[in-house]
Amino acid sequence: MRDCAGPAPIPGQQLKARMPNATSPPPAGQTSLLRKLCAVRPVDLTRAGDKHRLKQVLGARTLVAIGLGATIGTGIFVLTGTVAASNAGPAITLSLLIAAFGAGLAALCYSEFAAFLPVPGSAYSYTYATLGEALAWFIGWNLLLEYMISASAVAVSWSAYVVNLLEAAGIHLPAALVNAPLGLDAHDHVISTHAIMNVPAILIVAAMTWVLYVGVRESARANAFMVGLKVTVIVIVIVAGLQFIDTANWKPYVPANTGTFGHFGWSGVMKGAAIMFFAYVGFDTASTTALETRNPQRDLPIGILGTLVIATLLYVAMAAVLTGMLPLPKLDTAAPVAVALDSHPQLSWLSWPVKIGVIAGMTSVILTSLLGQPRILLSMADDGLLPPFMSRCHERYKTPHISTVITGVLAAAIAAVFPLDLLTDLISIGILLAFAVVCIGVLVLRRTRPDEFRPFRVPWAPFTCVLGALVCVGMTYFLSNSTWLRLLIWTIIGMSIYAFYGYRHSRLRQ
Ligand code: ALA
Repeated sequence: MRDCAGPAPIPGQQLKARMPNATSPPPAGQTSLLRKLCAVRPVDLTRAGDKHRLKQVLGARTLVAIGLGATIGTGIFVLTGTVAASNAGPAITLSLLIAAFGAGLAALCYSEFAAFLPVPGSAYSYTYATLGEALAWFIGWNLLLEYMISASAVAVSWSAYVVNLLEAAGIHLPAALVNAPLGLDAHDHVISTHAIMNVPAILIVAAMTWVLYVGVRESARANAFMVGLKVTVIVIVIVAGLQFIDTANWKPYVPANTGTFGHFGWSGVMKGAAIMFFAYVGFDTASTTALETRNPQRDLPIGILGTLVIATLLYVAMAAVLTGMLPLPKLDTAAPVAVALDSHPQLSWLSWPVKIGVIAGMTSVILTSLLGQPRILLSMADDGLLPPFMSRCHERYKTPHISTVITGVLAAAIAAVFPLDLLTDLISIGILLAFAVVCIGVLVLRRTRPDEFRPFRVPWAPFTCVLGALVCVGMTYFLSNSTWLRLLIWTIIGMSIYAFYGYRHSRLRQ
């Protein structure tokens, strides 16, 4: 194995010439620090990634499959039921549409960026090229939530479905080994559950890490199969469930607020939208495979927007059917799809195939989330913000193998100890803020590089971009104070790593 990545060479003079104010000495003190934190990585440099480390094998259809693979999972198979039962009622469909609106505006901005700057660092690289290094680090750190921590969250619900399936087959695993040792109480505070660790969640993350280690083409094939299975399962449940809808379950569409903010009523619909945003997390995964895509300018926007449209249609239809089939209290379960089928004996024959399809669907989310993360780490390591070994690629498999293993180990550790709801809310809030920054970044790039050809342009900018940022930030208002506190802790950890390592080793300044 050799360092096949080798950070892209930066000719000193060339970089100097491109950096704003590179010829004048930096002002002393505070201003100098601020300038360093806001240093923007030149667009040409960002584009000049070394393509030869990775194989260009992916086309538009595969990108949509990767997007759907990363997107459709716990959100639709678990949260739809729990959020309808606790927050939004039958208006969960409206919550999903509001979340889709925010995600759609962000997706348009992502598409313009991805076609303009087809690099694997995704929002991290876009921010570095527009809003500066410190904010880019913040975004890169939050993308860890979108990819690595998402893989952990979905592994937790994967474990719940597998345990449920094994129990139906008469195999009972000890509760202490299939649950997280930490949980949340009714006030959103972390408590001990007395379990030891979630072993099935660790095993699935380890298995998917191995698949990703041996090659992106193999991973894409495995993903395409699982995506086919989960989309088929969703369509079957929707079609089979239609005739069992009792429209009385849809009334009232927006149940009256219980007196607590976010528990039904319009605050519940909005809180539902913020939590359900988790279901859309992953639609932009295609953007991280930019260096492995044959025609990124054309295919990346198709991959991103295609994923979002298909996911929204499936989510809203599935949520409408589930809330029509069952009264709200029955939806408050870790496996609402299975419960909906089991509650109608005529559909019980579907129970096993659907559970298997759901498990396959979640597997593909874990796989594709773990696919995106190492590619972002690779970009950050190339820029010197992370240690150089994280950008190495395997000589034979041509995958960023070290970052892949690091991602897998951390994702497995988090899946072993944290509960699902804590992880999903933290992911939603972090990604909503990251998407808001992407929306603003498009406007900045239009100002700094106004004349360059853009293969894809956000329609009605700047209105669309500003609205996208406002909708994304607005949704965070409805998440709990504890979630904000956890984001703060997460951000402090991230910024400390930047202060002690990234800031000192940044290649842009060197
Ligand atoms: N959007 C992904 C899911 O719902 C993370 O599982």
